[in-house]
Amino acid sequence: MFNVELDDAYKFLSESELKKAKEDALKAFETLKKKDGPGNDFLGWYDYPLNYDKEELKRIKAAAQTIQRTSEVLVVIGIGGSYLGTRAVIEALTPYFTNNGLEIIFAGNSISSSYLVKLRDYLWDKDFSVNVVSKSGTTTEPAIAFRFLYNILKKKYFKDELREHVFFTTDKEKGALRQVGLENDFEMFVVPTDMGGRFSVFSAVGLLPICAMGFDVDQLLKGAVDSYNYFKKEENNDALNYAMVRNALLRKNYNIEIMESFEPCLSYISEWWKQLFGESEGKEGKGIYPASVVFTTDLHSLGQYIQDGRRNLFETCINVVNPSQDIDIPFDKDNLDNLNYISGKSIDYVNKAAMNATKEAHIAGGVPQIRINIDSLNEYNIAFLLYFFMVSCGISAYMLGVNPFNQEGVEAYKRNMFIALGKPGYTK
Ligand code: PA5
Repeated sequence: MFNVELDDAYKFLSESELKKAKEDALKAFETLKKKDGPGNDFLGWYDYPLNYDKEELKRIKAAAQTIQRTSEVLVVIGIGGSYLGTRAVIEALTPYFTNNGLEIIFAGNSISSSYLVKLRDYLWDKDFSVNVVSKSGTTTEPAIAFRFLYNILKKKYFKDELREHVFFTTDKEKGALRQVGLENDFEMFVVPTDMGGRFSVFSAVGLLPICAMGFDVDQLLKGAVDSYNYFKKEENNDALNYAMVRNALLRKNYNIEIMESFEPCLSYISEWWKQLFGESEGKEGKGIYPASVVFTTDLHSLGQYIQDGRRNLFETCINVVNPSQDIDIPFDKDNLDNLNYISGKSIDYVNKAAMNATKEAHIAGGVPQIRINIDSLNEYNIAFLLYFFMVSCGISAYMLGVNPFNQEGVEAYKRNMFIALGKPGYTK
């Protein structure tokens, strides 16, 4: 079960505003499907779940077994699109980052010395493997992290054993990482040339770590394939309608979208979504600023602003209809905490009451609401959701008239940093 409720956003829009947005969304969808818009050489993700490399998937499953056999910890080294999707899926399935005795840690997504030194100390007496993920193979953050962790691995393991602890996911033809992999005969997996990082979670980028953590990548790919087929149609297409409504709201100056959930384990789905939409749409002075909150946590902080602050916000809530676990609130004969009025009710019942109450309050406060209902958190449903967002993002960015698949803006800080650090080839 998957559906998107838009009625509480429609209330804030007129019929003519919706009609115009619908026409534009349909045109943008045509552009996406025909693959004739800007950035069309980066549309490999669109039908990838149907055409993925079956031989590579076998290698991924074998490498995942090797990692499970040799390691207590898997460190995934990567930044941006090279780690957010992986983390989003794994955290949604196992909020404590362990499964079947294997722990996963993410590194190379900052340049924090404290983080790296503490990680080095934590890993020192453990058996661990690294999966370095970098399409370009030259990104500074993962390169620094790998240099540190590789030095530990070289002290721990002989050359032949090392091959069972180091796995690269990178471009199949170019990049420094590929060179290191070739020189050392490390096992390498591919980030397809025609796929940007933020659209790569269904390639080896996500599949290897997700599989190593013991999750069902066949179900993940099936969810993506079914989502592809489901969101191909023009009528009653939630991906198209979500893009249509958010753009109609933007035209009325609702220029901040807050992604929210009442399940904390979805916070990295929101982080992934923020990169997906922020990096795809935020260009040429355009775009909706993607923000996120976790409720009810943030109702006790940002809730004030959302209810009563500047009126340029709308909210999209991911509602997990059936939680993976639920438990009733016990009766207490003393009732000193005055909670007996909800004893016998389940925690999820209370959580859903909070969710519905929040929606009602925020509508009254002038905040348009979108709700995405997913049945439960498993590999299939999570993939279905992520692929829905990817399609919708392509449509939405084309509605804005920007290229969804480039990110020239992120180069500006890098250039300044490289000049400051004296990187060869960079001068003022
Ligand atoms: O979505 C993107 O393309 C970016 O977030 C990249 O994934 C990120 O910058 C990391 O790049 P790379 O994979 O080349 O190390």
